[in-house]
Amino acid sequence: MGEQKDQLFPYEFKELDPEEEKLVEDNLGPFPTSLIKVGPKGYIAYRPYKRDAANVYNMPLRPTDVFVASYQRSGTTWTQELVWLIANDLNYEKAAEIPLTHRYPFLDVFMFFDPNEKEKYINVMSKTEENFDTEKYSQVLDMMSRPATSLLEEIPLTEKRFIKTHLPMSLMPPTLLDTAKVVYVARDPRDVAVSCYYHARLFKMMKLDRSFKDFWNMFHRDLYTLTPFFEHVKEAWEKRHEPNMLFLFYEELSKDLPAIINRVADFLGKKLNEEQMNRLCDHLSIENFKNNKSVNYEDMRDLGVLAKGETFIRKGKSGGWRDHFDEEMTQQAEKWIEDNLKDTDLRFPFMK
Ligand code: A3P
Repeated sequence: MGEQKDQLFPYEFKELDPEEEKLVEDNLGPFPTSLIKVGPKGYIAYRPYKRDAANVYNMPLRPTDVFVASYQRSGTTWTQELVWLIANDLNYEKAAEIPLTHRYPFLDVFMFFDPNEKEKYINVMSKTEENFDTEKYSQVLDMMSRPATSLLEEIPLTEKRFIKTHLPMSLMPPTLLDTAKVVYVARDPRDVAVSCYYHARLFKMMKLDRSFKDFWNMFHRDLYTLTPFFEHVKEAWEKRHEPNMLFLFYEELSKDLPAIINRVADFLGKKLNEEQMNRLCDHLSIENFKNNKSVNYEDMRDLGVLAKGETFIRKGKSGGWRDHFDEEMTQQAEKWIEDNLKDTDLRFPFMK
């Protein structure tokens, strides 16, 4: 891939202004790529996104495709496993055998990796770990920097494709919902912010001495990957009545998982009996998820890319933000949420 000059991509790219650049630099670690803004909403992307933005926007779709989409840290992994198992008639053996990352090509992960700067990535990352596996990391870089669109094209037509993405709807093919199914999951942005902070630490993208408050200052100013958060959620929310869109909230999964399982099953044209329901709920519990090697990303630890003391599957609860927000941040968040929901009927479950 990479040849995208004849393809339509309707948005322009813009640089961050110097003050924004500084705020980002103060927080994010030495990851060797920088940020750009995409389109009129100014979605924040890593620069290599530019390379394949048009390929993603114009990717050939199939009627059997199922996308799981979200703003990151909103319960994507949880939703992916749930969707995959229901769509695959509860094939737990296969789910255990094939890691979730292989069952779902990650459409936009290429944006983090610039194939022309491989040495820089290796230099930076190898300094963070004593026994860093340079060779394996180099192979992973080759794989990750390759746009998932080409990988997806290679999947035989007879096979159903499951696709993970954190891109907002406007950066995906405009005909997406005419062709494929999309399950979008959203979450209280305060919990998302906390979860993103720990995730950035896990993947060694945050400077170690930066606090959550530092991160919050960047996040709620829409200067973190694929923010503005509210625009992202609102774009999907506006499509929630389309037959091929299922819009879920993390908080609903937490509160009544069987109800959500039934909604996903209806959406995919499947039905579960009581025994199947009980087993699936148990399989999807946070305790089981933490120990499930197929979904918990712990296989990346051997590579040396994960920070000690942090895990991908973390607390898994709603409202945990309260332990991280002081009074000032709480007020900022309230105002931020209120301002951003003024022009929409989007309401999060925590508001009911
Ligand atoms: P926390 O960091 O708040 O714990 P994503 O998959 O989009 O990256 O989202 C990750 C968030 O979902 C993390 O939130 C993670 O712990 C939570 N999560 C993952 N699996 C879960 C499960 N089975 N039950 C509840 N929460 C889960």
